[in-house]
Amino acid sequence: MTSTNGENGAQKTRDIINSVTGHQRMRRNRRTDWSRRLVQENAISVNDLIWPIFIVEGTNVIQPITSMPDVYRYSVDQLPRIANQACELGIPVLALFPYTQAERRDATGSEALNENNLVCSGLRAIRSQSIDIGLMTDVALDPYTSHGHDGLMNGDTILNDETVEQLILQSLLQVDCGSDIIGPSDMMDGRIGAIRRALDADDKEHAQIMAYSAKYASAFYGPFRDAVGTNATLLGDKRTYQMDPANTNEAIREAELDIQEGADMIMVKPGMPYLDIIFRLKQEFGVPTFAYQVSGEYSMICAAAHNGWIDHDRAMLESIMAFKRAGADGVLSYFAPKISQILKNT
Ligand code: PBG
Repeated sequence: MTSTNGENGAQKTRDIINSVTGHQRMRRNRRTDWSRRLVQENAISVNDLIWPIFIVEGTNVIQPITSMPDVYRYSVDQLPRIANQACELGIPVLALFPYTQAERRDATGSEALNENNLVCSGLRAIRSQSIDIGLMTDVALDPYTSHGHDGLMNGDTILNDETVEQLILQSLLQVDCGSDIIGPSDMMDGRIGAIRRALDADDKEHAQIMAYSAKYASAFYGPFRDAVGTNATLLGDKRTYQMDPANTNEAIREAELDIQEGADMIMVKPGMPYLDIIFRLKQEFGVPTFAYQVSGEYSMICAAAHNGWIDHDRAMLESIMAFKRAGADGVLSYFAPKISQILKNT
């Protein structure tokens, strides 16, 4: 193809471009598939994925969650099968979340300390088979409280230290039942240090802690709250303990404290709207850093794809790549099984 200016015009344009770029042509490396693969800076691996699972009362239950297409609540008897599936796909860790029946919720979230609650039973069921998979559990009271908050309340106030006392007991119980990674998602002050000390004093120094260090008071948790049934119950909002989306330096202080207190890994949540935070934390501390691609992020991609507005698989993979590029070592994602399947087939 000649340019509109003819042969001489094309040569003239080439000369001008070479004179401004110094003969650099960024597109050369992008021309072929092998070359694009050769210069690729980041890659997604199944080893980067944590798969969040919802647990519900009953037997033989596989319950769809309307706001999260292809995500289900499973009864405990289904979990060994799911864990096996994860293991076959090579997913390193499952994260367990309970849908607690309304009648089991109370003002103090006492069900969190019931050794037969859904999470504890789920841990034992998966541990009853000998498969090599990590199990992570959320430490917070919101799936168990009648008011839907992560901590104990006095009037309108979420009590910090009293809540931490209960979170310690919840953590010890979860490790006793087979949890490998304790994930405090409650944002109470000092809880990482308090939990670490309690674990160590109880011969549980092997138990890892992934701190939800920078957890924002976000609108993107909506579908999750459907999944665990807290949307209907939550009184007010979580802004007195979760972070203000306007803040970034504060995330550094949160993470710094968690690391000093003994966190093995830190996490940023939500994920995609907070890539700058992931980037900063990884640059600043260089510790294992994770992103939680939360329910709202998942559902947005599914909904847009369902409408034919974006390509589901491409948007899914691109979103995970964004976390890797920002510096995340891994991602909690409801897409984990789909991504692993794709990685397995390619
Ligand atoms: C609760 C908790 C939440 C999520 C994980 N643990 C919600 C909240 O803080 O209200 C959200 C996960 C998601 O949206 O996928 N402590």
